[in-house]
Amino acid sequence: MADVVLDKVVKKFGETEVVAGIDLTVRDREFCILVGPSGCGKTTTLRMIAGLEDVTAGDIRIAGETVTFKPPRDRDIAMVFQSYALYPHMTVRKNLAFALELRRVPKAEINKRISEVAEIIGLTPLLDRKPRQLSGGQRQRVAVGAALVRQSGVLLFDEPLSNLDAKLRVHMRVELKRLHQQIKSTMVYVTHDQVEAMTMGDRIVIMNAGKIIQVGSAMEVYERPATRFVAGFIGTPPMNFFEGEIRNGGIALGGDVQVALPRAVEAGRKVTLGVRPEHISLHAGKPHAAKVPSTVEVLEPLGNRTIVTARSPAGVLQIEAEANPGLKPGDAIELWFDMSRAHLFDQASECAL
Ligand SMILES: Nc1ncnc2c1ncn2[C@@H]1O[C@H](COP(=O)(O)OP(=O)(O)OP(=O)(O)O)[C@@H](O)[C@H]1O
Ligand SMILES: [Mg+2]
Repeated sequence: MADVVLDKVVKKFGETEVVAGIDLTVRDREFCILVGPSGCGKTTTLRMIAGLEDVTAGDIRIAGETVTFKPPRDRDIAMVFQSYALYPHMTVRKNLAFALELRRVPKAEINKRISEVAEIIGLTPLLDRKPRQLSGGQRQRVAVGAALVRQSGVLLFDEPLSNLDAKLRVHMRVELKRLHQQIKSTMVYVTHDQVEAMTMGDRIVIMNAGKIIQVGSAMEVYERPATRFVAGFIGTPPMNFFEGEIRNGGIALGGDVQVALPRAVEAGRKVTLGVRPEHISLHAGKPHAAKVPSTVEVLEPLGNRTIVTARSPAGVLQIEAEANPGLKPGDAIELWFDMSRAHLFDQASECAL
């Protein structure tokens, strides 16, 4: 059992509070993703779990034991840092072996673990090289490998794929997921890449400005974002937002656009309407579709679909259309918002209604 519990954890640097009292339980063997914009406190949170940063207030428990004041070596964790370091004078094999040798793990066991991990993350042909003979991406994989061979109960990753090229990143994403299924350590993985966040973990923890805004599976946070921030952060292209007011059983948007709402909301309320690009169609036909006249501005063909940027009286919006929508910039079109899939947020609190 290696669950990780954060209990009202606060971190201040001087007077500045960068982690504002967060509560989180990462379950035993869970793959948990911490995601949020730059500076929101992800690395600081991870470093507090690892014991590399003091906790200003609150408690951290690993496997039921309070570790708040324990040094890193007494916590059952391994960490891959955002800016990782390898020993330059040691071969890859030695870099992987080093922490295990310090712990007096038997030689045969060390070799076994190294060959397993090297095979999984594609380091086998590089084991006898020195770090300076490796590319940035290869070095990053060595750093991941060095954490994996320790077989800790808890593995912490701080953006371990950020130095890899796009193709290798996609490959490593799948490999890390496969790895998690094999080794069953509890994993806490920090990223600011929302695609990584969506695809890799069991649950996503979305942070902003030192606070946890929402915790849930990828589909939960995608389909039921708790706030406008989450709605705009998860999903590409991002959700379209329109400011409006509840009137006559619908929403009055800018430019005299009125869209009907399939459910009742109190009249006069100031709201933000959120509609994902895939829930706006060029064609009528859906039962709860609302018509919005628009003009095509930009087309971005992606092969299997095309992103269309259009201007409506209510504002600029993006929609996901079929591969060949037969449009050109300047075309006047009718867009149909699927209001049964639309999101409403209170303008003042930004919370979902
Ligand atoms: N040692 C420190 N002293 C003072 N402020 C710090 C220190 N370390 C981090 N901070 C501040 O704390 C905040 C959170 O930093 P943190 O590194 O946790 O962000 P992050 O979410 O990991 O961002 P990124 O995605 O850019 O890595 C930032 O505003 C940062 O400037
Ligand atoms: Mg960071």
